Amino acid sequence: MRTIALIVAAGKGTRTGHNTPKQYIEIAGKTILRRTVESFLAHPDVETACVVIGAGDLPFYEKAVSDLDLLPPVIGGATRQESVHNGLESLIELSPDYVLIHDAARPFISEQIISRCLEKLEYADAVLPTLAMTDSLKSFEGERITGAVNRDEIVAAQTPQCFTFKSILTAHRTFAGENLTDDTALAELAGIEVAIVQGATENFKITTSDDIERAQGMITRKLTDI
Ligand code: CTP
Ligand code: MG
Repeated sequence: MRTIALIVAAGKGTRTGHNTPKQYIEIAGKTILRRTVESFLAHPDVETACVVIGAGDLPFYEKAVSDLDLLPPVIGGATRQESVHNGLESLIELSPDYVLIHDAARPFISEQIISRCLEKLEYADAVLPTLAMTDSLKSFEGERITGAVNRDEIVAAQTPQCFTFKSILTAHRTFAGENLTDDTALAELAGIEVAIVQGATENFKITTSDDIERAQGMITRKLTDI
């Protein structure tokens, strides 16, 4: 089976408060984007990767991934959904069996999660790595709690969200313009059943400046462990 990783990196990272989009911030001499891309290239069952980048970000991109063997970058759109769609359309000629759609801002994706997703894809058109919730969950209105939410019915969605290429391309074409934050939501709209596998806390999405510090701490600790 031919598998391609589609890494979406066309966001601006506004919530970090940095001028540079978060995927181009360096941690211990290596950008977050490069760390993410390398994790996929290192997996024996992933053929190659394609990165979707912001319209003005080509210089950042080239510096970050120079010397890596990747498909040509694709320019993203105003929303994550548009960015993914542009990336999928660019893969038509290659027409892989599977596509693993991943946030550039999740550099700690492990080989185990990728393998778990690929195993499940043998039986499902869509696979989502998830995390169980540990805190109690509440609904609220304004400043008041209105009730409890059953934690056992809820999971947090991570990436890579993994699909048979044809099914997710069709879903994106059918529901272009919906602006959903993740691809399994689109798959559901298209009537595709989504299977789940275990994600990992380390596979968090770098979103705020605190997250950048957390990532720095994780990498520095790993470097000193060696
Ligand atoms: N993304 C994208 N195209 C967009 C918006 C987001 O490719 N138009 C990508 C981001 O680069 C990121 C992933 O989707 O890797 C998840 O999005 P998010 O964490 O929201 O990143 P940003 O949109 O960059 O951050 P913010 O929302 O804080 O601006
Ligand atoms: Mg965003």
